[in-house]
Amino acid sequence: MKACDLISIINAGGHADAVTCDTIKAGSGEKELKKVAVTMFATVDTVKKAKDWGADMLIVHEPTYYDHMEVVKEETLVIKAKRELIENSGITIYRYHDHMHHRDVDQIPEGEIYYLGLKGKIEKTPYSASYLFTSDEALTALELAERMEKDLNIAHVRIAGARDIKSTKIAACFGTPGGVFDLLKRDDVEIVLTGEACEWMLGEYARDAASLGFNKTLIVMGHIGSERDGMRLLAKRLTEAYANEFETRYIECGEVYTYTDTQKK
Ligand SMILES: [Fe+2]
Ligand SMILES: [Fe+2]
Repeated sequence: MKACDLISIINAGGHADAVTCDTIKAGSGEKELKKVAVTMFATVDTVKKAKDWGADMLIVHEPTYYDHMEVVKEETLVIKAKRELIENSGITIYRYHDHMHHRDVDQIPEGEIYYLGLKGKIEKTPYSASYLFTSDEALTALELAERMEKDLNIAHVRIAGARDIKSTKIAACFGTPGGVFDLLKRDDVEIVLTGEACEWMLGEYARDAASLGFNKTLIVMGHIGSERDGMRLLAKRLTEAYANEFETRYIECGEVYTYTDTQKK
């Protein structure tokens, strides 16, 4: 199988718009696949790990050159060095973002909920990549955050607002999608999960709401921590479906921030 064949397979049923960030960022679609690596970001470290493993293709979720559509206005020394590293690796890098999100079941929340071990009903909202999730299991925000640190390996989950009230009505706004504040303000939403948040707006709204007696919480997981499990699930599915054609490996990119306490992997 060639890289372009695999791209056609994973794109099926996805994004319908001709304008998309899902393009080959490096290398060729004609590359024959023996080893396919999957990660969240094509960081310098994940590219090196993919090369050391002998990967033919690296599937990523996010931009490689710090712009959604990869428009590089200034070829800085950092960008030049990264481009050289990638081009010398010979790996075909494909961004799988829009097709992953824009399908009947968005694979990012699917992966997050799967690896959190939660079951329930997920519904679309008017906002792209933001969902309402009704959990079968009632959890406090603290219990949910602890599970994120344990099962999703997020170093530090941040909680604003109510911590100790059992809740089931969750807005799943992984990454940095639209509509997060609108969903936080809804009476039927108890906990909002997101990757990144404006602290003075969303965080303080949740804190004031809880202080006034409302069951309202914002949980900030970090961008990588809130989306990478969708890529983990993609790697698992490719492993299960194509073991006879190519080997698949999930490469962990780690969180972007480090902390003063012991860094988890
Ligand atoms: Fe994202
Ligand atoms: Fe995303």
